[in-house]
Amino acid sequence: MAQQASLAGLAFNWVRRARYAARQGSRVVWFAAHGEVAQAISRRVVREARRERGEAEASSRSASPPRKTAARPDLKRLFSQIAALFARDLANIEAGHYPVPEGEFGPPRSFLDLSRSFLADVPKVARRRVSKDHQEVFDATRETGAGLPRYYRQNFHFQTDGWLSRDSARIYDFQVEVLFKGATAAMRRQGLVHLSKLLRGTDQRHVAYADIACGTGGLLAPALAAFPRLRGVGVDLSEPYLAHAREALPTGRRGRAAFLNAAAENLPFADESLDAVSCVYLFHELPPKVRALVAGELGRVLKPGGRLIFVDSLQSGDLPENDGLLELFPDLFHEPYYRSYLVEDLDALFSVGGLRRRELATAFLSRVALYEKA
Ligand SMILES: C[S@@+](CC[C@H](N)C(=O)[O-])C[C@H]1O[C@@H](n2cnc3c(N)ncnc32)[C@H](O)[C@@H]1O
Repeated sequence: MAQQASLAGLAFNWVRRARYAARQGSRVVWFAAHGEVAQAISRRVVREARRERGEAEASSRSASPPRKTAARPDLKRLFSQIAALFARDLANIEAGHYPVPEGEFGPPRSFLDLSRSFLADVPKVARRRVSKDHQEVFDATRETGAGLPRYYRQNFHFQTDGWLSRDSARIYDFQVEVLFKGATAAMRRQGLVHLSKLLRGTDQRHVAYADIACGTGGLLAPALAAFPRLRGVGVDLSEPYLAHAREALPTGRRGRAAFLNAAAENLPFADESLDAVSCVYLFHELPPKVRALVAGELGRVLKPGGRLIFVDSLQSGDLPENDGLLELFPDLFHEPYYRSYLVEDLDALFSVGGLRRRELATAFLSRVALYEKA
């Protein structure tokens, strides 16, 4: 009897693994293929722009290549890093940290709609990249400032509308997945392991948790899916991204989420009022001075013993074989503060707010760290 049960368990595991592999494999193929198409479109836009400017093909060929000083993994190596990430993701699922992920892009029809919208936007992004134009958002908000800080009013990543429209919010996750070949959601999920450990043996309903700079809900949504009694507050400066995050949640989960339009450097929480905060892909977008303010705020709002789950880009030296790739990033994707982020001493920054690092791991192109408030 016991033997039969263990055989059934084994078979169940294998079916789950096969399903997981099929799902993530097709995800990588889908997004990597979009990356190839996007690159082809971008190259055509570059050629056209040069022709318009009367530049000879020859001069474009002799133009200096992007700066490259450190090691850069080839495509095969990148895919093996992604495979290692997925192996860890599956191990986390099997260890019970979170369930098998739900598809975040809805049914096939909405996947295709997003694909069309993404591809339609690629030439616009490429034109901004060619002309190094990242000030459309600033120009559009020049008069009023829209109540937003100056550093925020830019076309980060050469994105159409920056962070400031529903269209931008709708395609943001798709764009990021194309950039990271379908591995972004799995990188974020590594942060859920820390939340899972924190929630183990506690009544989830009494844990005060907020995701700072939640964007379209990249971590908040899977957190609410994984932990069925947890409540979470998403904070972001972008109203359209918050609206998208709210609407993207299944109706049954909306009651456990609240969304606040606020700046991370001035969080709308009382001192020492939260048990856990997460912060995903924010710090590399911030000017150094603001980074320090936000780090202080995260420390301020956490209770003693509270945890910060930090997921962001790798920094220089985290995974030396990827250092050259990180150097390419800021020019290709308008990341004005990224270079300073690469060398920022994050542990020192967080220590000012009383946060001490407990764990650190890399996950493909991300670093995942756990800090604890003293
Ligand atoms: C790269 S996105 C990351 C979003 C999300 N955490 C994720 O995992 O996809 C950066 C987000 O930070 C938000 N943001 C940037 N600066 C901010 C600030 N000072 N305060 C609050 N949100 C900010 C942007 O509006 C955007 O939604």
